Parts: sequence; C-alpha cells; structure tokens
Amino acid sequence: MQVEASRGPIEELDVQGLAVAVFKNEKVDDGFLKKLDELSGGLVRSAIDAEEFSGKEGETAYFHLVGNNSLKARRLLLVGVGEANDYNNAQVSQMAGTAVRSLRSKKAKTIAVVPRASGDAFKTASTAVEGAYIALFDPDKYRTVDKEQKTVEKLVIVMEGADEAALKKGVETGQIVGESLNFTRDLANEPGAYMTPTDMAERAREVANQFGLNIDVLDEARMEQEGMGSLLSVSHGSDQPAKLIIMKYVPADYDDSGKELLAFVGKGVTFDSGGISLKPGENMELMKYDMTGGATVIGAMRAIAQLKPPIPVLGVAPCTENLPSGKATKPGDVVRAMTGKTIEVINTDAEGRLILADAIAYAKKLGATKVIDMATLTGAVSIALGDVNAAVLGTDQKLIDQIISAGHEVGEKFWQLPLDKEYSKQIKSDIADIKNVGGRKAGTITAAAFLKEFADGLAWAHLDIAGTAWADDAKPYRAKGPTGIALRTLLKIVEWESQAAK
Ligand code: BES
Ligand code: MN
Ligand code: ZN
Repeated sequence: MQVEASRGPIEELDVQGLAVAVFKNEKVDDGFLKKLDELSGGLVRSAIDAEEFSGKEGETAYFHLVGNNSLKARRLLLVGVGEANDYNNAQVSQMAGTAVRSLRSKKAKTIAVVPRASGDAFKTASTAVEGAYIALFDPDKYRTVDKEQKTVEKLVIVMEGADEAALKKGVETGQIVGESLNFTRDLANEPGAYMTPTDMAERAREVANQFGLNIDVLDEARMEQEGMGSLLSVSHGSDQPAKLIIMKYVPADYDDSGKELLAFVGKGVTFDSGGISLKPGENMELMKYDMTGGATVIGAMRAIAQLKPPIPVLGVAPCTENLPSGKATKPGDVVRAMTGKTIEVINTDAEGRLILADAIAYAKKLGATKVIDMATLTGAVSIALGDVNAAVLGTDQKLIDQIISAGHEVGEKFWQLPLDKEYSKQIKSDIADIKNVGGRKAGTITAAAFLKEFADGLAWAHLDIAGTAWADDAKPYRAKGPTGIALRTLLKIVEWESQAAK
C-alpha cells in the first residue's frame, strides 16, 4: 500500500473514498463541516438534521455521491469521534481504522482520511496510519474460496494547514509501526505447524538481514552449555527443537560499555497443548498464539531497526512447543534453571514461566539492565481483567508507571496488579527451591512472583497479555484475531528513553 500525506484541499483529493472525522454535536454552520457540507451538496447537514448521525464515537454515515457536488471522491464517510476534548490517539487510530475498513468494504481502492485532530501533526499522522494498518489486517490468510477482494492501493492522510515536514515524518513512522504490528499479528495468526520455533527463528533472521540488526539464535546444544534446564524442560516432549532468538539494535557509532541496556523478552510457545498436564480440547486451537510475546519482540525490533533511536535495544524470544510424549517432562520432575535455582514442575502447562526464567537470566548475562517481558502467561488474567486491560507487574515502580503512561499515550491499557512478597510463599516447594504453580489463588500474580525470582538486580516489569492478545470479536476498526497488543507501548517507551538519554 502506498501511503501519502496531503495538506488538502479536500475537494482536490483524487481518491475513490473520503472519510472525515466529525465531533459529537458539531455544528454545520461554520468551519470545516460547513465547507464539507457545501462540497457534498448538503448531505452533511441533511444527515445531521435528520438525526441519522450526531458524531457519537463509532457512529458512521455513508454516502455514495452523484449529481450536485464538488468532490472528486464518489464515496464519502463521516466517522463520529465523540467529544472534541476527549479526542486522543486511541480515537484517532480507531477513526482511521473504521474509515479504511468500511470504505474498503465499499470497494474503494484509494482512500483519503481526514482525522481532524488539533495539535501535533506528527503524532496524529502516525497514529492515523497505524490505525489504518491495524484495520486492514485480516486473519483469513488460508481461505481460498469466497474471499473478498480487499486491496487498498493508496492511503492519504489529510491535514489541512499542518506542518509539512511533521506530517510527512508522521506518515513514514506510522507506516513502519503499522507494518511491524501486522508482521507480529501475522506470526501470531499462523498455525502451529507453520510457525515452529525454527520458523520463528527464520523470520527473525529475515528481519535482521533486511533491516540491519545483530542476531544470534541459540540451538538446544548451546542452551545446554548455558545450563538452561528450565527452558529445555519444556521442549523435551516435542520433536521440534527449541530456539532462543537474540536480536540487538545498536545505534551507529555507539559505545555500549557500562551503559544501560533496555531489553524486551517475549514468550514464544508456538503451540501450547499443556504437555503431560494436557489442556482440555475446547479452544485448544487458539494455543497457536501462545508465541505472541515472542512475535511482539521480533516485531518491535523490526520497527526499532527502521526508526533508529539513539539507544540500544535487546530483544530476546525463547521459542518452543509444549507437547506431551514419552520424552516429555512430567509433573513432579525437578529442573535446574540457568541461575542455578531448582524448580519443581507441578504442572507442565505452566510452561511460559519456565522458558522466561532462562530467557530473562540470559538477557541479564548479555548486559540488560532494564527488562520488560511480555507473555500470554495465565488464563487467570482474563478472569481478572477481561480483554480490556493487560496486566502489568514488576519490581520497578518507575518502569511500571512508564508502561502505563506509554500505553495511555498510544491507546493500549495496562492495569497494575500487586506483587507483595507474601505471594511468593505460594510458590515454595517441598523438594526444590520453588515450584512452577502457586495454586488457584491469584494465578497471574504468582506467575509473576515466579518470574521475579529470575529478575534479581534488574529493573523489571512483566506484561501478561493472555487476555488481550487475541480478539474474539471483530470491531469496525479491527478484525477478530491477533491484536498486536503492547507493541506500540514498547516503541513509545523506546522513544521516551531516547529523549531521556539525550
Ligand atoms: N498459555 C497459557 C495461558 C493462556 C490461557 C494464554 C488462555 C491464552 C489464553 C499458559 O501456558 C497456561 O497454560 N497457564 C496455565 C497456568 C496454570 C497451569 C497455573 C493457566 O492459566 O491455566
Ligand atoms: Mn500452558
Ligand atoms: Zn502457554
């Protein structure tokens, strides 16, 4: 898709579809809406007067234009965005998403979007482009019949009077972020058979080669040398070998001796059957997305390589299947993690924390000082927070606050859960140092308490995205399926850390 910036005027936009944001109860008497009303031959006023459309958030009005009008576009869509005062990035993203998804369904191949946010042109443009990319992703990759023709060839973001350079830069940035988001979602959407740990490593290598990142992939022999008995215990039952993907972005001419190193660590379980503690069959097919954390790390690194921030970033993705077999780890087995800690495996379905334990330890070995890990870690997080908020927990309140604010900025919601030391009692083992489950109570917290054992000496935060990584329902601005949660938040944190490092 070709993406362009334009400063209007809207009557000269040579596109098939035009979408315009409209505020709640906005008056047609003056300003932009008056102009649009005149250009459209009075349709805007007519729809508002008929109470067909009031600009409420998510509301739309669609017109096919013939006859008396002065627009080149034949398709006009008004998208309600609610109160002007509450119009922030989340709304801009959804507005653009609703616009392109709905105009695409009307077969428009070239689309102009007028987001109409006041303020920062860079931010508005990049957010609108991101929203459009999010909206244009569909999970039906392997459908061969009755597949709708769905190509959008050109997207134009229109901001009359905006600073030209900021607008252009915003569009470029939005494209990088949007493509990387959909890269991550594509990986998450792949069936387990097409996205094994080896496939993930290959995709990471392609990204590293294409955009210029350092990459190292540890095979099982090297994991053994490193003493990663916890990670390896999960891959035992599988014929597919585990891979530990390491990607690193280093700014040009950067001397990284003795400095801070931010690291992202993501769970990459390419299929989670539960292992010997086998899951029930219902919905098990969804466990192909148990590698979303790892895919998010690779996608974030893909964007970072192109955005070229002034700080280095490390990406770590431990990838494995979790399957039962005669070689699989059994409940009651004791494994030794890279740090030397011994773990009693009570339940082989609590595998995510086992692989993250060694991945976090390895990130630290590689010099990481600040670690954000993300994982589809517990079903319990859906019980606690549903599909609205992802959970954030950790040992560094500053980092947690930063994640929550960054999420707010990009329209992703994180809610902090407590991590008092009392919870760690639940993971004490009778036979080993710790055990991998803490009972029925506070499942998301005890999973984090387990990870905390391996984040010693790090500024560390953990994101549990099990409830938010996969959408069960479609929205006007997004298909059902993988959501790409957390990626934009991570990029915002890199941006903020870059500013702080200056
Ligand atoms: N991958 C699952 C968590 C999950 C559940 C992700 C639903 C997405 C949707 C994880 O490995 C798991 O099985 N967790 C167990 C932990 C339990 C055995 C302590 C769970 O949540 O049931
Ligand atoms: Mn599991
Ligand atoms: Zn899992």
